[in-house]
Amino acid sequence: MALIEIKDLYKRFKQGSKTINAVDGIDLTVNEGDFWAIVGPSGSGKSTLLQLIGALDRPTSGQVIIDGKDITKQSDRQLAHLRQQSLGFVFQNFNLIPTLTAAQNVEAAIAKRGRDDKKRVLELLGQVGLADRAHHLPSLLSGGEQQRVALVRALVNHPRIILADEPTGNLDSKSGEEIMKILIDLNKKHAQTIILITHSDYVRQYAQHVGEMHDGKLTV
Ligand SMILES: Nc1ncnc2c1ncn2[C@@H]1O[C@H](COP(=O)(O)OP(=O)(O)OP(=O)(O)O)[C@@H](O)[C@H]1O
Ligand SMILES: [Mg+2]
Repeated sequence: MALIEIKDLYKRFKQGSKTINAVDGIDLTVNEGDFWAIVGPSGSGKSTLLQLIGALDRPTSGQVIIDGKDITKQSDRQLAHLRQQSLGFVFQNFNLIPTLTAAQNVEAAIAKRGRDDKKRVLELLGQVGLADRAHHLPSLLSGGEQQRVALVRALVNHPRIILADEPTGNLDSKSGEEIMKILIDLNKKHAQTIILITHSDYVRQYAQHVGEMHDGKLTV
């Protein structure tokens, strides 16, 4: 069974008197353990599509079926649960909470609190080379380091699906490569399913599957 099945998906926005078909009739099947890159020009609907897959927004019509359940028919409460349990998000601008340390940012995202949380968070940060940065505020970290914290935060609940919207977009090529190495490793070791938006030709090389968006339509 497909992990994610998208059927005849549309998202329309009204901008004044104009209607924009941000997602314009997309069908896509993503299997468990797949690594997809979504490419395409600015404004082609990539982020909108990712937000619909991640239950961050509701489509105008069509279906997003995750693990056999049509999430477009689920309540806000069910969607919140899905996001927390099964989805990990990474964004271009890291989105860390500026007043919390690296470790606290990760701890704040833990869905099921346990006694060993602090230890587990430090271990995870250590695995991405941030053992000695765990108690720093984001403002004291480089972009690459902040994105590694954001990645650990996305992974702390062991999501089956990682959704990344231009995760290397604000990084120099070396830091970007480190982030990609971590993602590839997760995809291989844990069969985590990854859907990643990128503008970078070099990043798209890492993906097994590439989908190209143009004017809300996806070509695979
Ligand atoms: N909330 C919104 N309200 C109105 N229009 C929107 C909204 N979100 C997106 N759009 C429009 O939908 C289209 C697709 O936007 P989207 O952000 O998905 O593109 P993108 O491919 O991610 O672009 P970029 O590469 O610049 O991030 C654009 O024309 C955009 O202006
Ligand atoms: Mg975008």
